[in-house]
Amino acid sequence: MSPFSNQQPKRIVVLTGAGVSAESGLKTFRDNNGLWENHRVEEVATPEAFSANPGLVQRFYNARRSQLVEEAEPNKAHQALAQFESRFEGEFLLVTQNVDDLHERAGSDKLLHMHGELRKVRCSKTHQVYERNEPLFYEELCPCCGLPGKLRPHIVWFGEFPLFMEEIYRALDDCDLFVSIGTSGNVYPAAGFQQVAQQAGAHTVELNLEASNGADRFDEHHHGPATEVVTRFFDQLLELPNG
Ligand code: APR
Repeated sequence: MSPFSNQQPKRIVVLTGAGVSAESGLKTFRDNNGLWENHRVEEVATPEAFSANPGLVQRFYNARRSQLVEEAEPNKAHQALAQFESRFEGEFLLVTQNVDDLHERAGSDKLLHMHGELRKVRCSKTHQVYERNEPLFYEELCPCCGLPGKLRPHIVWFGEFPLFMEEIYRALDDCDLFVSIGTSGNVYPAAGFQQVAQQAGAHTVELNLEASNGADRFDEHHHGPATEVVTRFFDQLLELPNG
């Protein structure tokens, strides 16, 4: 039974993955026979791929960026999380593996993009980050170093280090509720967050379309589309008295 059936938790960490944006029309990574927009992940999401075929990698991310800028809108699950954060009186941190900006467009505030952001690019030489809504061409001259071929998507590729890990582990070590939403639990370190939070004494909950890889480790599960299960779960939490 949930320790939060009578009162609200005090410190919450939420992790989201591609499933939270699926109903906004953005494809998940592992629901399409292992192919991601018709590419193998290694072809487009590794530093080696960018060195070997920068044009292909830029085109791939340009297409995803345009879809995000021109078509995708936050859905009810993004909105429920933002609304919860604005009304919750305890500590709240949203960690997302997603590179879309639908959480912030829905109004989420305390948000860390551990795998980078699609609407940003950066210089591989100086690490300067720039906002970007238009396509990026690999011959383009970098504004900070003036060199061609230096600007790259601000995305954490396979084999690279995720961002904000110190801050994330600090919050996990101190939370009393951890909620994982719309992630298959295949990619570390995010796939290990549930165990870190549980060892720190937190109650852990999975909200996903179906049971994920490590589903049996969670204390509580609710399976169904994010727009339904996330909304219901966080609305119910808001109705409880403060802990
Ligand atoms: N509502 C809730 N969950 C959903 C929905 C939905 N409407 N649609 C799909 N899902 C679930 C799937 O069942 C699956 O468990 O979302 C999960 C998506 O899993 P993945 O495609 O593996 O995405 P994710 O876990 O975010 O991937 C992690 O892998 O390649 C990388 O860096 C990339 O951040 C990404 C990381």
